[in-house]
Amino acid sequence: METNNLPKHVAIIMDGNGRWAESRNRNRTFGHKAGVEKTREIVESSAKLGIESLTLFAFSSENWSRPKDEVSYLMELFVLALKREVKMLNKNAVKLSFIGDTTQFSPKLQQSIFEAETQTCNNDGLLLNIAANYGGRWDIVNAVNQCLKAGKTKQELTESDIEANLATEGLPQLDLLIRTGGEKRISNFLIWQAAYAELYFSDKLWPDFDSVAYDKALSDYALRQRRFGQTSAQVKLKHK
Ligand code: IPE
Ligand code: IPE
Ligand code: MG
Repeated sequence: METNNLPKHVAIIMDGNGRWAESRNRNRTFGHKAGVEKTREIVESSAKLGIESLTLFAFSSENWSRPKDEVSYLMELFVLALKREVKMLNKNAVKLSFIGDTTQFSPKLQQSIFEAETQTCNNDGLLLNIAANYGGRWDIVNAVNQCLKAGKTKQELTESDIEANLATEGLPQLDLLIRTGGEKRISNFLIWQAAYAELYFSDKLWPDFDSVAYDKALSDYALRQRRFGQTSAQVKLKHK
């Protein structure tokens, strides 16, 4: 694998759990459970590769509109996974944090989040950001509201004002956005942050997306030329 040009910040829309289960004549929840296994594999792989920041879309602000049973199963699964995975996170020096409006979760889940974040807060390796009850539009509106609260209304807001108040504040800029499951859309994920991210779509359903598939995505990224509006010649000159 090409490890020269590693993205600093990778985000993943982990999609396809339901279809994975349905194709096996199983309940969608079976797919979510299998999805957690793959999440562990990709987190460990990212930590070993030395990626700085990994942001995973676990539950969108729109996912509340799924059948009640599925939503409650996902909530239970989060609580379980948080309890179970802290050991693995510490072993790999992963620092966990949540982004999104977690105040809408049950007190029990909020407590589990708090505990897992606290138990990993001194780790200095991979920054693992779990986007839960996250929406890109929410993030931007929230940032603007923070600016209003801080009295920034007297002057015009700048891009830096917004950036400094987004949920991803302090993280490296988003380099690579991966979506599994074959759909080619952003589904209200990091819409501001993805402005200049490289996009990678995989047809693999999330429970099939293993570290080999991940390496393939990273190798694809490594070969791309990011121009940020400049010409190819300008970019080549800069890297000489
Ligand atoms: C992604 O898989 C996981 C969550 C949204 C929680 P899906 O549950 O969306 O799986 P598909 O897209 O229905 O196959
Ligand atoms: C996006 O997947 C949300 C997560 C992966 C958590 P969805 O399956 O909810 O997205 P849509 O509905 O297909 O756009
Ligand atoms: Mg889906």
